[in-house]
Amino acid sequence: MRDHHIIKKKNIIEKYNSSFEHYDDRYRIIQLKKYKFAFKGANFQSKLVLDAGCGTGLLYTHLSKHLSKLKYSRTNFICLDISLNMLKKIKIKEEFKKEKANLSLILSDLENLPFREKFFDLIVSVTSLQNLPDIFQGVSELIRISKRGTEFYLSILKKDTRLKKVISKFKPYFNDFMMINNEELEDSIIQGKLM
Ligand SMILES: C[S@@+](CC[C@H](N)C(=O)[O-])C[C@H]1O[C@@H](n2cnc3c(N)ncnc32)[C@H](O)[C@@H]1O
Repeated sequence: MRDHHIIKKKNIIEKYNSSFEHYDDRYRIIQLKKYKFAFKGANFQSKLVLDAGCGTGLLYTHLSKHLSKLKYSRTNFICLDISLNMLKKIKIKEEFKKEKANLSLILSDLENLPFREKFFDLIVSVTSLQNLPDIFQGVSELIRISKRGTEFYLSILKKDTRLKKVISKFKPYFNDFMMINNEELEDSIIQGKLM
């Protein structure tokens, strides 16, 4: 990894390790709006799901409200983040205590994922990819650990200048590829199934 990439990554870790306390209060409503939009019609049932850059687990908390009701019990969720403090915040949430059999927390880097090839059924990453010094490496890693037909739900801040290049590089890998730009959201949403 190049020196400036290492510095950028260290800064990101520091940023989230020091802001974790206030993250939910500040971003819950904003993130929930994205989830409602991005996951409309998504089926998490009986799937092995990776939330890449899960933060404080807002998505898991949101979905777990429906977990038992919708018999999601055979869904296994892996929440991965590079910030230890963000992950620690998940452990103290009620939903984690109740549903922890379905949830694993992993401290790791999205650009170097600790999973074997063709592992996950569904990949989610909300407002995390723009933090990567090498976003192409990150998306390549997500593809590596996915099977044919794995569903992707990604969101990236619209202001990320690499977005267009990312789309044109990775679009050919997907069926049913869709990019959604809702003016109320600060993120572009990308959906597709790996070919
Ligand atoms: C804006 S937050 C989004 C969190 C969560 N997805 C949500 O919806 O609230 C971005 C998250 O990406 C994580 N992140 C940044 N760089 C990462 C990397 N290289 N690997 C894994 N996680 C990373 C940060 O630690 C932070 O928790």
